[in-house]
Amino acid sequence: DGAPSLELIKAHIRDIPDFPHAGILFKDITPLLNHREAFAAAVAGLCAPYRDAGVDHVVGLEARGFIFGAPVAMELGAGFVPARKAGKLPSDTIDQSYDLEYGTATVEIHADAITPGSRVLIVDDVLATGGTGRAAVDLVRKAGGTVVGFSVLMELSALHGRGKLPDVELHTLLSV
Ligand code: PRP
Repeated sequence: DGAPSLELIKAHIRDIPDFPHAGILFKDITPLLNHREAFAAAVAGLCAPYRDAGVDHVVGLEARGFIFGAPVAMELGAGFVPARKAGKLPSDTIDQSYDLEYGTATVEIHADAITPGSRVLIVDDVLATGGTGRAAVDLVRKAGGTVVGFSVLMELSALHGRGKLPDVELHTLLSV
């Protein structure tokens, strides 16, 4: 029933014109989160290719990647690791910076979060330019983890983020 559940997921993502800036069509996932069956379908879809992949840790990317990553970790029987923006994590961290249109951003995980040699699935809601995903992959590898995949609800295909991740098993439920 892959196709019907994709329709259910799509039906609960709302387009918001001119948010956060004029000319941006924002994809609002809050109706999806608030619809029990659509949310469950999204989580199941994110997990599907990885059920037998021996995933040890799921890394979720702040902030919306936390919402999907935590239930994915539960379903896969894995631990959950938050990848946060700089300065938010209390213990020792490892970090990875990446370029934005103007300036740079940094993502961090706790230095002891990922056991070297363990198998890691990265989860997020949206793949846009691919900068965040690229940084997350590099961060997990820096920590000694093996990236088994990057599972994303929605790919904004016009921004070609996929091109930044040629060395990653990328799984996206929707391409918009
Ligand atoms: C959004 C989205 C991804 C990232 C994708 O997060 O949730 O994490 O941008 O963009 P990219 O592929 O161009 O890097 P955002 O930075 O808006 O953070 P938030 O979830 O905390 O709002």
